[in-house]
Amino acid sequence: MTCEVALSLTVNGATRNVSVTPWTTLLDLLREDLDLTGTKKGCDHGQCGACTVLVDGKRINSCLALAVTRPDAQVVTIEGFADGDMLHPVQAAFLQHDAFQCGYCTPGQICSAVGLIAEGHAHSREEVTELMSGNLCRCGAYSNIADAILQVIDEEAQA
Ligand code: FES
Ligand code: FES
Repeated sequence: MTCEVALSLTVNGATRNVSVTPWTTLLDLLREDLDLTGTKKGCDHGQCGACTVLVDGKRINSCLALAVTRPDAQVVTIEGFADGDMLHPVQAAFLQHDAFQCGYCTPGQICSAVGLIAEGHAHSREEVTELMSGNLCRCGAYSNIADAILQVIDEEAQA
């Protein structure tokens, strides 16, 4: 008999009632049960950042979070950022600055960037680079990623 636990999460603004095994990660719940495959599985060990999502407004590696430990979480994935055809400013900046090549790391980079900007601790290229260091990019798009994030930080400072 499989032991499952009922959870009621809010994912991208919608209530999702699910039943998961205690060892199901948030990443697997999103990808396998909710078909939100924008969130990527890279290392599955907390070392690459490809699985980054926002939980209660904070960026986390969803491969390290057991879903049962977040029973009432507000989760935002890459699928939750755009408003119809209107991209989130960070998404638009990534496009403008060509901040990706293969795109595999990009959903995690964008989620992490949104979390980083909300934290308010990054004001320079060095700080952006340091605070985004948990998100690896095998294509080496780091410079363009930093350009995109810095643009949004500047835009928000001027707003
Ligand atoms: Fe989660 Fe790599 S897949 S950190
Ligand atoms: Fe290819 Fe980052 S764009 S891994």
